[in-house]
Amino acid sequence: MSLVNGTEIFKAAREGHYAVGAFNTNNLEWTRAILGAAQETNTPILIQTSMGAAKYMGGYELCKNLVEQTIKSMNITVPVIMHLDHGNYEAAKECIEVGYNSVMFDGHDLPFEENLAKTKEIVALAHAKGISVEAEVGSIGGEEDGIVGAGELADVEEAKQLAAAGPDYLAVGIGNIHGVYPENWQGLSFDRLEELAAEIKIPLVLHGGSGIPKEQILKAIDMGIAKVNVNTEQQIAWSKAVKAYYAADKDEAEKGFDPRKVLAPGTKAIKDTVESRIEWFGTPAVK
Ligand code: G3H
Ligand code: ZN
Repeated sequence: MSLVNGTEIFKAAREGHYAVGAFNTNNLEWTRAILGAAQETNTPILIQTSMGAAKYMGGYELCKNLVEQTIKSMNITVPVIMHLDHGNYEAAKECIEVGYNSVMFDGHDLPFEENLAKTKEIVALAHAKGISVEAEVGSIGGEEDGIVGAGELADVEEAKQLAAAGPDYLAVGIGNIHGVYPENWQGLSFDRLEELAAEIKIPLVLHGGSGIPKEQILKAIDMGIAKVNVNTEQQIAWSKAVKAYYAADKDEAEKGFDPRKVLAPGTKAIKDTVESRIEWFGTPAVK
């Protein structure tokens, strides 16, 4: 199967009380690991680039082509959604131009009226091309690509207005934080999630999926979260595996300095982490 948009996939996830994972890619190895995990589990997957990662890799068009060509060369048959993560207005427009299947317009740091107006514009441009849109209300705590959020709870009235602007899924702040959770983290606000889920029927998105205890993730999914974003966990798994390779002096062994050998354990660690999260999220196998 080629690339698809996320509209029906996430709608079915919310209705079915499961989630589909959204995983960030940084390069060829990450792309292969994420797509390989989806194929191995025979489940749909969302692969995303942040603005920073896309810049690092050489631009949105290159990223889109990388994912598309990797799907082809690995004979990936499961549905794959190519998504822009935390895009600003310009990035969302560019990704719509180059053919991403889904874009997040993250206007949470703009005055609300501007976020609303720009979300509407992006929705119109994207939907004209069959591309899905994610909007965000209430900031996600921590830092992502230079966008720093304090982790406030989404305002229900604002969320209702933003959902009415027509996005296909909505990222909500419910006490979630990007990156590693601090020791004194209070946990997800299920009270706020309950209020949001009662009013908003489009799929809800949980950012900052790394490090949230499994029971909390499962409860959130049962209550209406249909897309869970996970990035830091793959980065940590990757980093530990590469470190272990060098710690064991494997680079000293026969041609152990070959980058293909050096990068293999990290790539496997990403794939294993993604597979484990797919299992947590209850993503059903493709029929
Ligand atoms: O948009 C991506 C994420 O929300 C990932 O957050 O790095 O804390 O897992 P994380
Ligand atoms: Zn995020």
